[in-house]
Amino acid sequence: MEFSIKGGDLSKLKTDCVIVGIFDSKKLSKSAQVLDKATKGALTTAAASGDISGKTGSTLLLQSLAGIAAQRVLLVGCGAEKDYGNKVFAAALGAAFKSLKSTGATDVTIPLETSFSASDLAWKAEQAACLAIDGAYRFNQMKSKPNDKNVGKAVTFHLDGSANEKALKAAIKRGEAVGEGMSLTKDLGNLPPNIATPTYLANTAKDLAKAYKFKCTVLEKKDMEKLGMNTLLSVSKASYQPPKFIVLEHNGGKKGAAPVVLVGKGITFDTGGISLKPGAEMDEMKYDMQGAGSMLGVMKTVGMLKLPLNVVMLVPTCENMPGGNATRPGDIIKSMNGITVEILNTDAEGRLILCDALTYAERFKPAAVVDAATLTGAMVIALGHVTTGLFANDDKLATELVDAGKAANDAAWQLPMGPEYDEGLKSNFADIPNIASRAGGSITAACFLGRFTKSYKWAHLDIAGTAWKSGAEKGATGRPVPLLANFLFKRAGI
Ligand code: BES
Ligand code: MN
Ligand code: ZN
Repeated sequence: MEFSIKGGDLSKLKTDCVIVGIFDSKKLSKSAQVLDKATKGALTTAAASGDISGKTGSTLLLQSLAGIAAQRVLLVGCGAEKDYGNKVFAAALGAAFKSLKSTGATDVTIPLETSFSASDLAWKAEQAACLAIDGAYRFNQMKSKPNDKNVGKAVTFHLDGSANEKALKAAIKRGEAVGEGMSLTKDLGNLPPNIATPTYLANTAKDLAKAYKFKCTVLEKKDMEKLGMNTLLSVSKASYQPPKFIVLEHNGGKKGAAPVVLVGKGITFDTGGISLKPGAEMDEMKYDMQGAGSMLGVMKTVGMLKLPLNVVMLVPTCENMPGGNATRPGDIIKSMNGITVEILNTDAEGRLILCDALTYAERFKPAAVVDAATLTGAMVIALGHVTTGLFANDDKLATELVDAGKAANDAAWQLPMGPEYDEGLKSNFADIPNIASRAGGSITAACFLGRFTKSYKWAHLDIAGTAWKSGAEKGATGRPVPLLANFLFKRAGI
């Protein structure tokens, strides 16, 4: 996607489509008024026709209006004027790009009104660049005849006055990097589980390392055996796919400065193992690697921006299969840090691969560790598909991540952990079991991880409800890449 900034008369700008806002009172936005004037009231007429409500995200496409150079005008509803803000801007623009999917427009213009504050303007440009890439995203690499003709090629930002162009360009670069990171995350998630294997994720990491000069280390089964990553290996046992432990290191910050360590759950398919899952929608368990997918995606963002921060990514990845040599409910496994775990349910496998990765994280003496995992079905029950669950052993880190989510329009909500929940992790035979009672299942899963993160500041994102969509719109969302990217941007001071 090409991005550019232009000034001058909006009505004379040659473009496939210009996107302008309309409020639910039928009042036109400032830039819509400019086009209205040039077209002798065509937009006012369209607004009065009743063909667009002005409700946030409603759209109406106008073709070949006389008096302007743009081929199309897309009117997009922005709701009530008094409620108009950054959130509505993003929702409206998201809807606009979605509706453009079915048109031939590939070069789109977005007016930025310079009456907004500089920080608002930069935020809008950053969001718009990201939304443009998000909206143009297609996954048709597995179709024999890809038939989606319209893939966005260019976005022009139009300024109706003077603005700090350097700051705007930097904002667009950030938005572009987040958008491209999300696209990688979505590709990795949407790819079928016979292709997106642990080996495929390792190769993706190697490609990123080449492109962005990261250091890449891939530990094989024998390396993991030496390190004592037995809980990870216990999940992988019955799979024909070799497990991988992927390490990416980006040294963009001060030499020797403590890094942020990102850890992503990489179960490339979760059958449940011997505690086999029911059949319905089991295909969606190909998304059980989206913790890993989002960490690889955000590393792309980091690389594209040469982020001035030290960042380490750890991805434990394998497949959870049943089989004659599979781990059984009742088996007891010694984790890398020495804690013994009684496996009571082989479907609670995410925590088993994460705990060894969290132990491995200690060697980096991290400033903070953040993991992302499609960890529990209970998370979907608690927060639905809107908000990511957040857990932390440090409230400041939790607040930092919640704020990053707000800023990125990629919300997370903190849930409690605490000793009352932790007490549920009791085993008659080992140090801890891998499951507690069903009540508060996402919290006790977080408490399990908390047993392995005592030596550093740590937060856990349960993305089970937010990493992908089901039903007709089935597909990866690219979340929580925007949240993570924003968190890293703030830490890097950009
Ligand atoms: N990957 C699943 C969690 C999941 C399920 C995410 C459905 C999104 C949608 C995870 O490995 C799992 O199976 N968790 C179990 C834990 C239980 C056995 C304690 C669950 O949530 O049912
Ligand atoms: Mn599972
Ligand atoms: Zn799982």
